[in-house]
Amino acid sequence: MRKVLLTGDRPSGQLHLGHYVGSIKNRLALQASGDYDCYLLIADVQALTDNFNDPQKVRDNVLEVALDYLACGIDPARTTIAIQSLVPALTELTVYYLNLVTLARLERNPTVKTEIGQKGFGASIPAGFLCYPVSQAADITFCKANVVPVGVDQLPMIEQTREIVRSFNNYYGEVLVEPEALIPEGKLAQRLPGITGINDKMSKSLGNGIYLADDEKVLREKIRQMYTDPEHIHVEDPGHVEGNVVFYYLDVFASDTAQVAELKEHYQRGGLGDVKVKNYLFEVLNAELAPIRERRAELATDPGAVMQVLREGTERANETANATLAEVRQAMRIDYF
Ligand code: TRP
Repeated sequence: MRKVLLTGDRPSGQLHLGHYVGSIKNRLALQASGDYDCYLLIADVQALTDNFNDPQKVRDNVLEVALDYLACGIDPARTTIAIQSLVPALTELTVYYLNLVTLARLERNPTVKTEIGQKGFGASIPAGFLCYPVSQAADITFCKANVVPVGVDQLPMIEQTREIVRSFNNYYGEVLVEPEALIPEGKLAQRLPGITGINDKMSKSLGNGIYLADDEKVLREKIRQMYTDPEHIHVEDPGHVEGNVVFYYLDVFASDTAQVAELKEHYQRGGLGDVKVKNYLFEVLNAELAPIRERRAELATDPGAVMQVLREGTERANETANATLAEVRQAMRIDYF
C-alpha cells in the first residue's frame, strides 16, 4: 500500500516564512520522494470559523494560498490540491465524528484554548470554532492519511484526530487510519518568530510576518526593522545572540554554518554592527525567496489557470472522500439503499 500524505492551510492570509520552513519544505521533500499520494487542502471552512463575518477575505485568500503553493514547487501532477468547502463528504464526516468527542475534550485542546484567548471571543465562543478540530479530523481521514506535515502548534489537532479514529474504529470496525504528525527538526521544532521579537508568533495582526509574496524592497525593510539586541547600541558594544531574531533566522536559513558561527563570535565580542549582520541575512533570505517570488508573479498573471488546478484537484479529492464516506456509512449501518 502506498502511503498517503495530507496537510492544509487556512486561507485567511498569504503564507509566510513560518509556513514555509514549518511545513511546506517537508511537503516538498515528501512530494519529491515519490513515495506518497499527496493531498493539500485549502481549508476555507475552517478559515470561516473565525472569519464568518468576512467571507470575501477567505475567498480572496484561496487564490493567494494556491499561488503560494505552486510558487514553492507544489506540483499539481503529484499533489492533489482541493478546496475544503467543495468536498461535501468532509462536512458529513464531521457530523458523525462530533458524536465521538466530548465538549470537555474540545475545551481542553491547547491550541484552540490559546486561539480563543487571542481572538477575544470571551464567553461567546462560536460552536463552529470550538469544533474545528473535529472538522480537521475529517480533513485528515477522508484520504486515510498516514502522515501530516505540520508546525508544532498543530500537534494537538493530530492527537485529537488519532483519538477520534481510535474511537470510530472501536465502535464501528477498522475503517479509518491513525495519522502521524511530521514536524520539522532542530530549531524549527519551535515556531519561527516574527520580526518583532523572539517570543512573538508571526501574525497578520502583529504585522510582524515575512510573506512569500513580499517583494525585495519589503523584505529589506522588514529585516531592517527586525528585533536584535536593545543593549547593543554602539558597534563596538558586545552584543547578545540569544533572543536576537536576526541570529535566530540565520540559524534557520543560512547554510554556511561556519560563517554564522564567526558572525556570532564577532557580535558577542563587539565591533560588529547590526546593519552588517542584517545585510547578510538579506542576502541569505533573498537567495531563497527570489525564485519563489518570480514564479508567484508569473502564476498570478493567469488566475484562471490556477483556479483550474484547484477545480481538477477538488474533483479528485471528492472521488477519494466519497469512497471513504461509503465505507463509513456502511460501518455505521446507515447505508440504507
Ligand atoms: N489547522 C491548520 C492551520 O491552522 C490548517 C488545517 C486545516 C490543516 N485542515 C488541516 C492542517 C488538515 C493539517 C491537516 O494551519
